[in-house]
Amino acid sequence: MLQIKRAGHSTLTTPDLERAVDYFTRLVGLSLVAREKDRAILATKAGLEAIVLERGSAVEAPRLSLQIAPGSDPGEIVSRLKKAGIKSERRSDITPGISEAVAFKDPKGTTLEIFPDCRFAPDDDTFTGVMPLKFGHIAYQCPDVQGVVQFYCDMLGFRMSDWRGDFFAFLRCSRDHHTVNFLRDPKAAIHHIAFEVRDWSDIKRASDLLAKNDIQLTWGPIRHIIGHNIAIYHKNPDGVVIEFFTDLDQMHDEELGFFEPRPWHQDRPQRPKVWGDDTRSNWWGPMSRGSPSHGDAGAAKPESKPSRQAAPGKAPALAHARTRAAQKKSGKPAKPRRR
Ligand SMILES: [Fe+2]
Repeated sequence: MLQIKRAGHSTLTTPDLERAVDYFTRLVGLSLVAREKDRAILATKAGLEAIVLERGSAVEAPRLSLQIAPGSDPGEIVSRLKKAGIKSERRSDITPGISEAVAFKDPKGTTLEIFPDCRFAPDDDTFTGVMPLKFGHIAYQCPDVQGVVQFYCDMLGFRMSDWRGDFFAFLRCSRDHHTVNFLRDPKAAIHHIAFEVRDWSDIKRASDLLAKNDIQLTWGPIRHIIGHNIAIYHKNPDGVVIEFFTDLDQMHDEELGFFEPRPWHQDRPQRPKVWGDDTRSNWWGPMSRGSPSHGDAGAAKPESKPSRQAAPGKAPALAHARTRAAQKKSGKPAKPRRR
């Protein structure tokens, strides 16, 4: 098993590269560290590569880079994958910061680029856009969530943080509650991309900046229940849902097995678990299902068949109590909110 430590960057294809570069530099506040005719590499202001844009006819996220322990031997990674029946290839200089990587496809067709070492881009002291701290997580839609989760846990060393029912999975590879999400949907596609910002004041600043540029929030500000991050969502010019978040749950010690206690947690302590289908999407904030076109998981229909993936925990008593109260008040069954 490989042990992934963090997400590097996501590659996005766009039919309008110039427009996408403008959006990610001027509004998101990433730094343009390299530009070729059909490609652009963007990093945070602190020099951490975050997004690679490539010209393409469709809007997709075909590749995701993931870092393993520095100094790991790429040849050894190839042989370990081969032993597990996975065909991979070594690639050089995939970005200015990553000189060596091993690429292979995950079960839903995304190419993963595993790299041991990276170089930071030069510091960018300009003050532009939201200026996130890092590329925080990426959520994908795919038909076989259980199969993909098993692959990420067994082959890549991810840990299960939370499930919503058996159709939405949150996996961690570091202290962060989740670095990848998988949502059941018949069609494999990108669901959303999330950038971490410093704090609540950056959420406010981002909301103002987006409004000034005629981009309305599609959801938020909210505090989620699963992951407990404060978040806002909007669509970028290509229609990709972008999230800015802060305050995501942290698991500082895997042996302790619970997220750092916070007053807004529903459980004492807050451990990874399966949340009921009717768990609200957010603890506070507008109870929208979020951006309709990306579904905000609302597109996924929970199925009655049980999950193949064993996951610990019980449905939250508090969420059920709230749902029951809402039902009683309205006389109608409450609609499940999904993250
Ligand atoms: Fe997210």
